[in-house]
Amino acid sequence: MTVMLADGRPMPRLGLGTWPMNDEEARQAVTHAVSLGYRLIDTAASYGNEAGVGAAVARAPVAREELFVTTKLRGSHHGYDAAMRGFEESRARLGLDYVDLYLIHWPLPGRGLYLDTWRAFVRLREQGLARSIGVSNFTPEQIGRLVAETGVPPAVNQVEMHPGFPQRELRDWHAGHDIVTESWSPLGRGSKLLDDPVVTDLAAAHGRTPAQVVLRWHVQLGAVPIPKSADPERMRQNLEVFDFSLSPEDLARLDNLGTGDRLGGDPDTHVEL
Ligand code: A2P
Repeated sequence: MTVMLADGRPMPRLGLGTWPMNDEEARQAVTHAVSLGYRLIDTAASYGNEAGVGAAVARAPVAREELFVTTKLRGSHHGYDAAMRGFEESRARLGLDYVDLYLIHWPLPGRGLYLDTWRAFVRLREQGLARSIGVSNFTPEQIGRLVAETGVPPAVNQVEMHPGFPQRELRDWHAGHDIVTESWSPLGRGSKLLDDPVVTDLAAAHGRTPAQVVLRWHVQLGAVPIPKSADPERMRQNLEVFDFSLSPEDLARLDNLGTGDRLGGDPDTHVEL
């Protein structure tokens, strides 16, 4: 089950998030996830677990080409040369010849460097070291600037998205620009959203778990969710969302849970390195 990126490469429609896991937790989780059928694994330099992810990928019982490994450039490595170095460090920790998707983790607009960083990303794609390139936590204005200056659009924008923060406008904008929306914290980080009566009602009506209903909402909207779980049973259920459908009314009920409040950082002001 894949979605086609604008650069012509297929991306799995759901993946495993690995924040916050340490190397050993990530190694175990990714090993188990691959055995369950997960093919997209999401990590980042700033998570501190690329070596664990890489160790699991190296020993996976499937060919490297079957897996789709995403990592992200940390804020401390913005700028052309620093980004090239940051990529090489990530690639070495992962122990891979190439990554499938490389993302700028945060735009850090106050530093004024993301455009130079993007030029490095374009070069990494030309070199085949990053098969696809994209961004994370970018606004349409920031993406517009990348395209205006380099002519190369990001294939993906990975952003906070869940029914509590449904990103209606942004996902429409992405669709109009052939950019895939990837959802971080797709379950709203767990209990509060998953205990919401609208979610539990829909779960009961469909004979599914609350997490499955929420992940199905992402998939039907064309977004790629990357739920994090270290629990084997939850990992299994989170992958089993391709054999039922929510109605348009169900989707609207979930969309209406939006509060306007983010769980994580704001793209315009977030400064974490
Ligand atoms: P755990 O790792 O113990 O399974 P998000 O991906 O939105 O950030 O959410 C991750 C949080 O949701 C984690 O605390 C994770 O805990 C929990 N979680 C993941 N999958 C499920 C599930 N199927 N049911 C309930 N909680 C889940």
